[in-house]
Amino acid sequence: MVSTAIQHRYRKFPDGFVWGTATASYQIEGAVSEGGRGASIWDTFSRTPGKVVSGHTGDVACDHFHRYPEDVRRMADLGVQSYRFSLAWPRVYPEKGRKQREGFDFYKRLLDELHHYNIQPAVTIYHWDLPQWLEDAGGWSNREIVNHYLEFAEAAFLTLGDQVPLWITHNEPWCASMLGYGLGEHAPGLKDWRRAYRAAHHLLLSHGEAVRLFRQMGLGGDIGITLNLTPAYAASGDPADVEAASRQDIFANRWFLDPILTGRYPSAFIERLEKHIGPLDFVQDGDLRTISQPIDFLGVNFYSRSVVQHHADGSLLEVCHVQTGNKVTDMGWEVYPSALYDLLKRLQAAYTQVPLYITENGAASPDVVVGGQVHDSDRIEYLHAHLQAAHQFIEEGGDLRGYYVWSLLDNFEWSFGYTKRFGLVYVDYDSQVRIPKDSFYWYQRVIAENAVGRAAHENR
Ligand code: FCB
Repeated sequence: MVSTAIQHRYRKFPDGFVWGTATASYQIEGAVSEGGRGASIWDTFSRTPGKVVSGHTGDVACDHFHRYPEDVRRMADLGVQSYRFSLAWPRVYPEKGRKQREGFDFYKRLLDELHHYNIQPAVTIYHWDLPQWLEDAGGWSNREIVNHYLEFAEAAFLTLGDQVPLWITHNEPWCASMLGYGLGEHAPGLKDWRRAYRAAHHLLLSHGEAVRLFRQMGLGGDIGITLNLTPAYAASGDPADVEAASRQDIFANRWFLDPILTGRYPSAFIERLEKHIGPLDFVQDGDLRTISQPIDFLGVNFYSRSVVQHHADGSLLEVCHVQTGNKVTDMGWEVYPSALYDLLKRLQAAYTQVPLYITENGAASPDVVVGGQVHDSDRIEYLHAHLQAAHQFIEEGGDLRGYYVWSLLDNFEWSFGYTKRFGLVYVDYDSQVRIPKDSFYWYQRVIAENAVGRAAHENR
């Protein structure tokens, strides 16, 4: 019998709440030339001098391709009910006109292993490792890619469909389009805003087509999409700053939320956008109907917020980002958990009643091994504060079904290479030895208790 005092200290999550961890293929698998895998845009980008810190590549990464049994065992030990991972498209379509059925073999083995431990897979179809041959044909900025994506999605549904209860069409199309084709910080590394908005549109369109196909195929399970949502706050009450925050919000969030959930692009921004990139003639009749196919859930990746001021520089957005002086993670991202609560509330009030999942949340910290242990109290504090925000949302009636920590393992953090560590498990990249961090044991307790303490140390 648990005393009332103890019950009171804990914030219980609903029965059936899904606890998980997330990863992505290029960030952990390695084995880039095994099993007939072709090149991806991240192989090319990471080999281009100056694009990734210290010239790091995903060639070996966490060697998860070979070490997955150990990693799945570790997840079982952690106690997660679900594991979110992504499929490497170049394993299945290594080059133009060639499909390799064996490209799914690794994922079949992985699914069997997960099944053995009763861990439910949540599969992301696209998490940024586009086959290079497709990029050579224009990548996401060429509308043709929608058919190629559909072919890949169909093959995945057919091959793995009976074992996957949760499908995510895309991870963070904002990053794939804006960081990849606009800001040039991610593969393919282009700085062309017209192509970036075309890419965003085709990513969205391919999402809608995949949802439609999934329904037509009559597969069991749920399908949705994961967006990275970064709420924008005005640095002051000055109307110019408030307007700036609204533009930033459209750029970062609404350009994806609105078409998917309301079937429209934010009209307030279109005129401004067209002045900068030309007419949005790549949006064809019927596209928005496709994009706004009903989804079963919305995946939310949340890390931080932005605070902006108006900055009249004639650019598309005319905003400048302000540092608040609050604590930041090793990525330089402000720790601001109440923005997660505000965001979830807004999604449910303004957009949708579909269930929400937090498909990524986590923090980078410069972890070090001391006497065989990794003391990552900053990460514990971060996760704890965000779980409290999530809990408050649920307590007030919010439909949040699950939470996935980014990430299970330290891994290849895109343009930052291996210099940023997000894992619950430390990876020594030379030896491939894994060491569970303090946060791993903390999260294990949270899962076992299906609750967070009022203070982070109560789950230790
Ligand atoms: C997200 C990505 C994920 C990881 C985290 C830190 O934007 O989806 O792959 O890099 O950020």
